[in-house]
Amino acid sequence: MKINSICCIGAGYVGGPTMAVIAQKCPHIKVTVVDLNESRIADWNDANLENLPVYEPGLDAVVAEARGRNLFFSTDVDKAIDEAQMIFISVNTPTKNYGAGKGMAADLKYIELCARQIARVSKQDKIVVEKSTLPVRTAEAIKNILDHTGNGVQFQILSNPEFLAEGTAVQDLHNPDRVLIGGEDKDAIKSLVDIYANWVPAEKILTTNVWSSELSKLTANAFLAQRVSSINAISELCEKTGADVSEVSKAIGMDVRIGSKFLKASVGFGGSCFQKDILNLVYIAKSYGLHEVADYWEQVVIMNDHQKNRFSRNIVQTLYNTISGKKITLLGWAFKKDTNDTRESAAINIAQNLIAEQAKIAVYDPKVSEKQIKEDLISLDENQLKLIQVNQDPYEACHNSHAIAVLTEWDEFNTYDWQKIYNNMLKPAFIFDGRNLLDKKQMTKIGFTYIAVGSSN
Ligand code: NAD
Ligand code: UGA
Repeated sequence: MKINSICCIGAGYVGGPTMAVIAQKCPHIKVTVVDLNESRIADWNDANLENLPVYEPGLDAVVAEARGRNLFFSTDVDKAIDEAQMIFISVNTPTKNYGAGKGMAADLKYIELCARQIARVSKQDKIVVEKSTLPVRTAEAIKNILDHTGNGVQFQILSNPEFLAEGTAVQDLHNPDRVLIGGEDKDAIKSLVDIYANWVPAEKILTTNVWSSELSKLTANAFLAQRVSSINAISELCEKTGADVSEVSKAIGMDVRIGSKFLKASVGFGGSCFQKDILNLVYIAKSYGLHEVADYWEQVVIMNDHQKNRFSRNIVQTLYNTISGKKITLLGWAFKKDTNDTRESAAINIAQNLIAEQAKIAVYDPKVSEKQIKEDLISLDENQLKLIQVNQDPYEACHNSHAIAVLTEWDEFNTYDWQKIYNNMLKPAFIFDGRNLLDKKQMTKIGFTYIAVGSSN
């Protein structure tokens, strides 16, 4: 089938940028992105591109080029489904927080709702594409729903997981390492291959069976997260032994079999997917009775929790075992640089730990709003919330502080006048660099007590 009309259900961090790039690269295809969330859709339609709901470098230009031409954002889900030949499901698949598999399994209720809606609305044959990250064999469930509640319409299911990373989404979509398409039906696979072939070289478009495709996505995230936990485990050993984790990363990364990427020790990985996808993998392994496999992968998450907690513990210990009433400044709240996404950000956990010790917290992040930060701390009571202050200006955030913790690797932190910041802090002035971002020599020369992850002082 030659595709000229696409619908994507879910206008989030994946649906929005992915469809914007498809529309940009395929002007002959009408792309409609739909969502139940009215304010999100209104933001995607906002004339001021600074108000797009997802911040990604370069995304504004892509949206500006395609929106209104062949890219549309709407809340009319039924209409978009009806008009499309191909439907991408790009809704959220969070960790289940109730019932069987609570805290581990993926919650597929949004996926099932989409499948039922597609079944109810469709009057012509359609290709349904899983873009969301799903447990292996979900396509079977979707197919069952579509086949048994439909109107005699034929549905083909494809798995097309997304590998973009936030902060580099547009770049990753323009130049993907690979595009993965899993499916059974040759014609359906070809229809999707033909779309990507508009800008992705043929040798980078990989086709597999559906189950390999679904499982490859969980596996890729598990491997990436495992590298971060591995280097973070070594960072703790470095702090005890006089080794420096940056030097160790460089030394091992030069081995081409290991490679240099994803070896940056940190305050712990965050983001909406690594933890969720590994826990999902663990749950699937357990459900097949593969307990050793499950335990192996669960350790990646256990190590990450340990890294976040030991970072805040170290702050308390270094500040003479009490931070009650002391001002501590958190530079960065997003889970990584160049995004406004804060889901599972290590900053949330660290702020909660410090507030439990009654510290006063000042937060500065160049892209995250005060509203978002307060929402992330919803579990705090009213008195605890009073301990949080969000600043628009980093110098104000650091004023009269006992310590600064760098939690996101924003480039701009390196451009600050650190002498001025030092002058306005209480002494001794501490920096806990959770990203090994700042120049240790310069900070020490100014007078800071500079404490990095993965090296002794
Ligand atoms: P998100 O929460 O940003 O967006 C999901 C959107 O789907 C929300 O706006 C929600 O309102 C909408 N939605 C839910 N149910 C709906 C329904 N029935 N009808 C219409 N809209 C509905 O999530 P996201 O970060 O875009 O992730 C989506 C999926 O992609 C997840 O499975 C995730 O694991 C996967 N993924 C995410 C990333 C990433 O970088 N964020 C990368 C690769 C894969
Ligand atoms: C990750 C994967 O990289 C994407 O391929 C995948 O599509 C996506 O998850 C997903 O499925 O959601 P993302 O979470 O956006 O992308 O960002 P990453 O660059 O992977 O970073 C994840 C976390 O690990 C961040 O908190 C980052 O700071 C941390 N990290 C990363 C480190 O601490 N050290 C590193 O060396 C690399």
